[in-house]
Amino acid sequence: MYLPAEDTYLLIRGLESYDNLGKVLEIGFGSGKVAEALNGRSEIYIGCDIDFNVLKDFKLKNPYNPKIELVCCDSASCFRNSFFDTIVFNPPYLPSDSIIDHTINGGPEGCELILKFLENSFRTLNSTGSIFFIASTLSNLSKITSFIKDNEFGCKEVIKEKFFFEHIILFKCKKLS
Ligand SMILES: C[S@@+](CC[C@H](N)C(=O)[O-])C[C@H]1O[C@@H](n2cnc3c(N)ncnc32)[C@H](O)[C@@H]1O
Repeated sequence: MYLPAEDTYLLIRGLESYDNLGKVLEIGFGSGKVAEALNGRSEIYIGCDIDFNVLKDFKLKNPYNPKIELVCCDSASCFRNSFFDTIVFNPPYLPSDSIIDHTINGGPEGCELILKFLENSFRTLNSTGSIFFIASTLSNLSKITSFIKDNEFGCKEVIKEKFFFEHIILFKCKKLS
């Protein structure tokens, strides 16, 4: 289980000024800390995670939260096209040759999981929706921004913070019209 950390709180802070998030999907739900912060501003909130145990833990601790629905799946693979208004994720982004820890290892250049999450998000986001995601300067950021551009999305930094040897950044993406 990933304990809420600086990146979790950066994601929450960066979204503070967004009042109405509509139908929200969070990829990589973890402890549910982000959901607890955003849930009051959503029409529905779906959290998905590849780790069934984190979802089970959250349900055991919060049995009566009817607004948060949980799904165990790989990225957003099981959701229909063009549905969500807002997709958020704080992905594993540390460069690593193999995925030993699902909570932190993001692939050889630290961006492979982010690219997979983005590809799934582009498909399941509606045409006016927004994607918010965390990335680090330890990851290959130019590969991420090129991928976004190649998929005809725009991308900007919402908030950025220095943390030891890296900067962690919250990005916002929207379909270019
Ligand atoms: C950095 S943690 C973030 C947890 C929480 N959202 C937070 O901000 O504290 C990343 C989460 O992504 C999940 N995850 C990793 N790979 C995934 C995948 N392919 N599909 C869905 N979730 C995944 C991990 O199990 C972990 O809970």
